[in-house]
Amino acid sequence: MKREIILTEGGSNSIYLPEMDETYHSTHGSIQEAQYVFLKNGIHRVFSSELSVFEVGFGTGLNALISLIHSSEKQKIHYHSIEAFPVEMELIEKINYCSILGEEYKNDFFKMHSVEWGSAHQISTAFSLLKIQEKIQGYSLNEKFYDIIFFDAFGPRAQSEMWTEEILAKMYKGLKKGGFLTTYCAQGQFKRNLKSVGFSVEAIPGPPGKREMTLAWK
Ligand SMILES: C[S@@+](CC[C@H](N)C(=O)[O-])C[C@H]1O[C@@H](n2cnc3c(N)ncnc32)[C@H](O)[C@@H]1O
Repeated sequence: MKREIILTEGGSNSIYLPEMDETYHSTHGSIQEAQYVFLKNGIHRVFSSELSVFEVGFGTGLNALISLIHSSEKQKIHYHSIEAFPVEMELIEKINYCSILGEEYKNDFFKMHSVEWGSAHQISTAFSLLKIQEKIQGYSLNEKFYDIIFFDAFGPRAQSEMWTEEILAKMYKGLKKGGFLTTYCAQGQFKRNLKSVGFSVEAIPGPPGKREMTLAWK
């Protein structure tokens, strides 16, 4: 699959897939979007001293990186992320997140990308990472295990098979009671699918360039 590095608003990179005409992040700012959807409306909503996150779509590792930067002795993060089509290291080396977020995170960012798939690794004192190289369709999440799900698949227009009741039921099963899923997507059919598998759905204002995003509570 051909991948091209692009520049989004605010100067941060993303990846564009010409064959799908799809980007990995909002062109209104990859870092702004990630911080808004997954930090402000994800991790910042949980106050426990340890936190388990499941991500759909590891991609460039941006959501993992901002989570690592947030993690501390006060809030340790166990981060599990599934990815069917890992991004090649030559592209990762060109991505400029650390020149914006802080050069001091460069080693941790490369470590996240270079550790083996399929086993958990301590990336920093407060952040551990398990990368799963598989399609979500064939994967079963640990039951009632996660506080938050970062649902960061390509949009329903490009990949409708990721937003189905079948996949969302897996997400529901994987969450602890009171846990939630956060995503940039606000499509009507997706929200109906969330409701039909048991989620309570909340529409909130979206990141730059998007009117709404979705939180779904168990
Ligand atoms: C919107 S991008 C994720 C962006 C990523 N979170 C980041 O911070 O760069 C969607 C990701 O889902 C992955 N993907 C596509 N189909 C998948 C599947 N069936 N199972 C798991 N991952 C899939 C893609 O390869 C891509 O990396």
